[in-house]
Amino acid sequence: MNSLQSSRFKNFVVVAFLFNVFILTGHLRPANILSWASWRKLDLDYSAANATLGFESIVAVAPNSVPVQLRWRKEGLLKAAAYSGLSIAVPPQPEWPNADVEALMARKEGMGRGYALSWLGHLHALNIATTHSSTLILEDDTDWDIGIRAQMPQIAEAVRNLTGDASNATSIMPLPPFGTEWDILWLGHCGDSIIFDPPPITLPDPTVPPYINSWEKTLSPYPERKRYIHWSAGPICTYAYAVTGQAARKLVGRDDHGVESFDVWLHILCKGRQIRCVTVNPELFHHHEGAGPKVSLAAGSILEEGFYEKEYTENIWHSARCNSAVPGDELVTCMGKEPDSQ
Ligand SMILES: *[C@@H]1O[C@H](CO)[C@@H](O)[C@H](O)[C@H]1NC(C)=O
Ligand SMILES: *[C@@H]1O[C@H](CO)[C@@H](O)[C@H](O)[C@H]1NC(C)=O
Ligand SMILES: *[C@@H]1O[C@H](CO)[C@@H](O)[C@H](O)[C@H]1NC(C)=O
Repeated sequence: MNSLQSSRFKNFVVVAFLFNVFILTGHLRPANILSWASWRKLDLDYSAANATLGFESIVAVAPNSVPVQLRWRKEGLLKAAAYSGLSIAVPPQPEWPNADVEALMARKEGMGRGYALSWLGHLHALNIATTHSSTLILEDDTDWDIGIRAQMPQIAEAVRNLTGDASNATSIMPLPPFGTEWDILWLGHCGDSIIFDPPPITLPDPTVPPYINSWEKTLSPYPERKRYIHWSAGPICTYAYAVTGQAARKLVGRDDHGVESFDVWLHILCKGRQIRCVTVNPELFHHHEGAGPKVSLAAGSILEEGFYEKEYTENIWHSARCNSAVPGDELVTCMGKEPDSQ
């Protein structure tokens, strides 16, 4: 053991010992929580590189049962999670009463069951998020880079720097990895414009693909292995977003659910600065397309909308889904075609 390891080990023994003393003597009362919290700093790693990426939990929005053509979504999610060392909960959804479904459908003209079920799925996840300090919510067809855990600590630091929370880190209570001065971290989207005032935080990030497809011209098609962390302008698509417990309560308590599709509703709240949203650009999560017929559940029944020769995920370099599906150690990419250089 080198001296650093040995001092860490000692800290661990001290903390473990004190914890036992507290439990055994029944001293873990609120008055002692503050000093307990400061001791935790001695040893435990609160880094964003852990299996829940520094959030208290990761929750996937997935219907309980789907037609066979759509099973790849949840199955691939869990396989990719195991492959890249993420711990993702897939909480079963209740049987939604018809009245709830129809009430949501009635909020916006021309919307079908699929629209309502997507809303109910996200609301269910948000309800769970109210019970955690922070939750990362994923849609069930989401994909990410196999290196995401290694990249997350610097993204967390960038979020703290952007939101002005970095200086709070010296306070006696340890800060959560991403700080506390945000409501939504929009980590998986299909585009957002970079806000340059205040300036974004820019990071070199080897997991950024060599080419991407985005409407933000600073990034697309060649993002130069750079990731931007900025206040949200108006992201679209809710492939992945983190939410604090406090923000989840605010969102669940609103009375305008269903007036727009879920992602557009959240987009409007972010754009209008009704909540504090931060975007990571290019996105860390993107939806995956399985090989074969492209189907959707838009009208409650299966709808064929096209055909894909090969599975792919746009804007994700070493896809966790694709790599978890191939044997051997050689890394694969499955991004689709590089844009024609002009
Ligand atoms: C990861 O870190 C967060 C923040 O410290 C913590 O709340 C969460 O429990 C950790 N996850 C795991 C799997 O240890
Ligand atoms: C955050 O700010 C600190 C202090 O200015 C700086 O040392 C660090 O490099 C910054 N980190 C990122 C990711 O921008
Ligand atoms: C952390 O920093 C922010 C921004 O500087 C400030 O508004 C907030 O009150 C601080 N929070 C704590 C807990 O000190």
